[in-house]
Amino acid sequence: MYHYNDFDRAFLAERNAQFRAQVDRRIDGSLTEDEFKPLRLMNGVYLQLHAYMLRVAIPYGTLSGDQMRVLADLAAEFDKGYGHFTTRQNIQYNWPKLRDIPDMLDRLGTVGMHAIQTSGNTIRNVTADHFAGAAADEIIDPRPVAELLRQWSTDHPEFQFLPRKFKIAVTGSPNDRAVTRAHDIGLVAVERDGQVGFEVIVGGGLGRTPMIGKTLRDFVPTEDLLPYCEAIVSVYNRLGRRDNKYKARIKITVHENGVDTIRDLVEARFAELKPLFDGVDQEMLRGIEAQFALPDFRDSSDLPPIVDPILQSWIDTNTVAHKRADHAIVTVSLKAHGQTPGDATAEQMRLLADIADRHAYGELRISHEQNVILPHVRRADLPAIHASLRNAGLGTANVGLASDIIACPGMDYCALATARSIPVAQKIATRIEELGIEHDIGALKIKISGCINACGHHHVGHIGILGLDRAGVENYQITLGGDGTETASIGERAGPGFAYDQVVPAIERLVTAYLELRDAPEETFLDAYRRLGAAPFKAALYPQENANAA
Ligand code: HEM
Ligand code: SF4
Repeated sequence: MYHYNDFDRAFLAERNAQFRAQVDRRIDGSLTEDEFKPLRLMNGVYLQLHAYMLRVAIPYGTLSGDQMRVLADLAAEFDKGYGHFTTRQNIQYNWPKLRDIPDMLDRLGTVGMHAIQTSGNTIRNVTADHFAGAAADEIIDPRPVAELLRQWSTDHPEFQFLPRKFKIAVTGSPNDRAVTRAHDIGLVAVERDGQVGFEVIVGGGLGRTPMIGKTLRDFVPTEDLLPYCEAIVSVYNRLGRRDNKYKARIKITVHENGVDTIRDLVEARFAELKPLFDGVDQEMLRGIEAQFALPDFRDSSDLPPIVDPILQSWIDTNTVAHKRADHAIVTVSLKAHGQTPGDATAEQMRLLADIADRHAYGELRISHEQNVILPHVRRADLPAIHASLRNAGLGTANVGLASDIIACPGMDYCALATARSIPVAQKIATRIEELGIEHDIGALKIKISGCINACGHHHVGHIGILGLDRAGVENYQITLGGDGTETASIGERAGPGFAYDQVVPAIERLVTAYLELRDAPEETFLDAYRRLGAAPFKAALYPQENANAA
């Protein structure tokens, strides 16, 4: 795992001291909220519906047991005892007092964490496949490259005032678990003639104008990656629209200028930049790679025969193949039926840290699906891990299933929300559990956003739910057929929206229709939708209309 050096520690301490002085001036009234705003945003502090909110980056989702313990301490001491993990591998604290935030940042600094560039029109937290380094299917561990990008982009003097925020995601596997095609830059590792490089995808994004990214180059050798990314961001910095916030993201720049023009400009800029990168970045990358060496794996004995069906179901649903046959990757669900997706209490975070130290070589991950991963676990330890998780309400066997819902904070916390997201997710999960059909339905991604900004990724949900305000009443639009993986697509709107109390029955009709429509239990909801098209699903959503038309 990457560890900060003395330079990093000194940099953070200085930055936190500056911010502490700015907070003091806000509290004593010498700075107005308007004057303070750009300063707080540079440090991940938002002003939300009820309180300030602090967003802390978890670069490429990786953290140690000690880092998780500090996140738990912050939740216990400065928040209401819990934190909210988000789709961008961050954790958000919704209730800190402004005067406490500098202390929170200092505490984070002790374990090499911070909130820099978690807000503002900068390059945000670089995200990556949450199974990186562990997955059986990966070509490379994408995290050294993600860390290099993080170091390059943090406080980059030219990229502090981009036209709009900028998000980069990296995957080392052809199976895309990082939603690379919905990012400003998506990097997908590819191997060609024995050499590893990256397919570079640009201009993906969700929000008001959702778009799937386009391939700028299908192969950029690893040694050219940094100058190539710098070329992309500098072309965007020059060309991106600053006249209209809603047209400022690179997806619009690519759309308005055409991908071929952007490619030509990027290649020209790349030719200028490449000689300036004289290999220092590659030396840095090699140093970083050494820090991402795999743990000293201990051999595992075989799993004893399992008699407990609950344990068996959890192993079947929440674990996947590891590079080593005697190890497994465990996903811990933060989606117990009826709970707030992505929330973890301080006690739960501490327990996860302890389990990581005891059974997982001290390493944890946060997934973009708002769950926690134990990336390296000896198979023989699975029963003990499950027993500890179960006692803490973390043993739900629903990863990848209908109740493993992504939901943004919506009206419960967010100042931009037009509707509630969390209670909708809670009610759907509860109903699915009551029906007892979750395992029968199989793989299904339901994603919910409380406004058009799409923080809950609804556009790439197999079933997407978008909460809107219609004349003061919450109204929920449903999209179908979205996909955030390597076969990415934007979901299509199914028809008129539903009132708050009609959403759960509508989702129930959809999944029941799917169970009848699929040609075999192996055919997933998304496959059935792609085979059959929208019509039979719309018929299930709007039975009244069909009755009228008959
Ligand atoms: C409560 C504070 C939050 C605020 C004020 C906020 C604000 C926004 C805004 C304004 C956008 C649209 C930006 C654009 O398209 O140009 C956006 C998009 C997005 N946000 Fe948030 N958000 C918040 C919380 C979250 C949370 C909790 C998550 C994760 C669950 C998240 C993840 C995202 C993602 C993934 C997108 C869309 C992807 C893209 O940029 O293309 N945000 N957010
Ligand atoms: S989608 Fe809208 S309501 Fe939800 S967190 Fe993002 S900005 Fe807030």
